[in-house]
Amino acid sequence: MALIVEDAGFAYNAGRGFEHRALEGVDMTVERGGLTVVLGPTGSGKSTLLRLACGLVDATEGRVTIDGQEMSSAARRRLRGRVGMVFQNPESQFFAASVLEDVAFGPVNLGAAHPHDEARAALTAVGLDPDEFGFRTPFELSGGEARRAAVAGVLAMRPDYLLLDEPTAGLDARGRAAVREAVAAARSSAGVVVVTHEASEFMASADRVLVLSGGSLAFSGTPAEMLSASASLPAGVRLPDVARAVLLAGERWGANPRATLDPREAARILTAMAGGPR
Ligand SMILES: Nc1ncnc2c1ncn2[C@@H]1O[C@H](COP(=O)(O)OP(=O)(O)OP(=O)(O)O)[C@@H](O)[C@H]1O
Ligand SMILES: [Mg+2]
Repeated sequence: MALIVEDAGFAYNAGRGFEHRALEGVDMTVERGGLTVVLGPTGSGKSTLLRLACGLVDATEGRVTIDGQEMSSAARRRLRGRVGMVFQNPESQFFAASVLEDVAFGPVNLGAAHPHDEARAALTAVGLDPDEFGFRTPFELSGGEARRAAVAGVLAMRPDYLLLDEPTAGLDARGRAAVREAVAAARSSAGVVVVTHEASEFMASADRVLVLSGGSLAFSGTPAEMLSASASLPAGVRLPDVARAVLLAGERWGANPRATLDPREAARILTAMAGGPR
């Protein structure tokens, strides 16, 4: 069971004279329970890849399948609710008078028997107490609360796959941690794809990392493989600072340390390199 993007290409305005190729030969496989992180400089095709994966646009070449079923803009209605998308700044799309009504909108639309129960469960999953937040207006939430409520709105539809476009952008440390927790919660029932500019946010818990550059895959592998391929990453994509610090110290000491994302392990490696206690 997986969401699979196979050798996909996409051009905006195809055949209309001012065609713009945004993706070329891209492969992505997201298993249920998995977390794929998509990195890449601005304009590299990350959001386009998500639009393709949820059937908002059709691949010009290649194909997208959801658990073996072809995904396309035509199939989107039928596969509605199977792939949830959280757009950048999703809080700008709140419309209901209360958080609970907003989150219940998806389940109501899908004909759920108990939409408010679904909404309450989704709010709880993202760490918002439905009794405290459910009856508040969504327009007066803090940035982190609002982002979590938006994630709950998609989770309430119980998607099998959840796609999030830069879900932590513009949040402070607490807000980012809250969104990371919401993503972790989503993973218990869905395969998750996170587009981010900040490798350090999700890489430690990811099982796959894709790096896009100019619409093509510059890297695809596990986080550990990416740490050892750091020299070949495109400009504009940096490893998390923890990993960079270890690699830079290794250069200074003429050593070849194993890169890590874990600060404690990094501290051990750095002290050992400097001849300090283990
Ligand atoms: N609606 C559109 N019409 C034409 N070209 C577009 C459209 N949307 C995006 N593009 C172009 O396609 C390319 C990929 O855009 P995309 O939004 O996927 O990039 P991105 O990696 O998400 O960038 P960012 O990090 O800035 O969000 C860019 O060159 C962009 O200008
Ligand atoms: Mg984008």
